[in-house]
Amino acid sequence: MQTLQDAAGLRATIRGWRSQGHTVGFVPTMGNLHAGHHSLVKLARARADRVVASVFVNPTQFGPNEDFERYPRTMTQDQAGLAESGCDLLFAPDVATMYPFGPEHSVSIHLPQITDTLEGEYRPGHFDGVATVVCKLFNLVQPDIAIFGQKDFQQLKVIERMVRDLGLPVKVMGAPTQRADDGLALSSRNQYLSPEERALSVTIYETLQQMRDLVAKGHHPKVVEQAAASKLERAGFVPDYAAIRRAEDLAEPAETEREGLVALIAAKLGTTRLIDNLLFD
Ligand code: PAJ
Repeated sequence: MQTLQDAAGLRATIRGWRSQGHTVGFVPTMGNLHAGHHSLVKLARARADRVVASVFVNPTQFGPNEDFERYPRTMTQDQAGLAESGCDLLFAPDVATMYPFGPEHSVSIHLPQITDTLEGEYRPGHFDGVATVVCKLFNLVQPDIAIFGQKDFQQLKVIERMVRDLGLPVKVMGAPTQRADDGLALSSRNQYLSPEERALSVTIYETLQQMRDLVAKGHHPKVVEQAAASKLERAGFVPDYAAIRRAEDLAEPAETEREGLVALIAAKLGTTRLIDNLLFD
């Protein structure tokens, strides 16, 4: 696996592949990779002739009180994992490559409505940063297919919508959430949990499953949301939201709506903020 930091080198390599008729799959990441990320690379491997991954800790998607500086940078380890998962090329640009005029002077892509709610409400500006950097990365890599985890369900929806609205020539694919044996969604933030918090953290997945089951039994989504928030609080979490939404556009479902729903939770356990979601079948 090759690692490149500059845009010109990246473009030249990809041009070479294209001239041989190869298709390109792309997996954007911020590094500190785990089996969840690797599963995306393996999916890309199965869907495209060549696989590009990026590792870029994107400053424009971090709020002022978030952990941009402290975000774990584990390049050597990430390179080994990516190579093993079947990645051909790692693009690892620095901030000046992605934002030549500085992050604060960059073009910014804002998607209305879908970014006003859930994560967008608790992390103002976050999805503008995500959409902007992903659009820039798409322009550099020009992939045929790009893979995003369902773990960040709202992010996946934001990217799908951006691609549709801007008519970007890339197929966006969502990939299933990889979980630990007890159900906790894999996340680089899990390493911050104390052993006690780690044992408790499975409550999030249990609550999501309970939300799905209660809705299937005919309970009102609003009542189910309240029960879920109480359950999390009783277990020692500080929930930001426990919500049932339409999977398509994350709008609140009508009272009788039962098809195509998703439950989403964001909750703090100590200083660690965890998010997860579950699509109802
Ligand atoms: P990052 O948090 O590194 O995640 C990169 C990709 O891995 C995302 O598509 C995310 O949904 C996926 N992922 C994370 N945990 C997963 C799990 N347990 N199972 C399956 N997939 C999982 O998301 C970002 O980076 C950034 O916002 C980015 C899109 C790279 C833009 O900067």
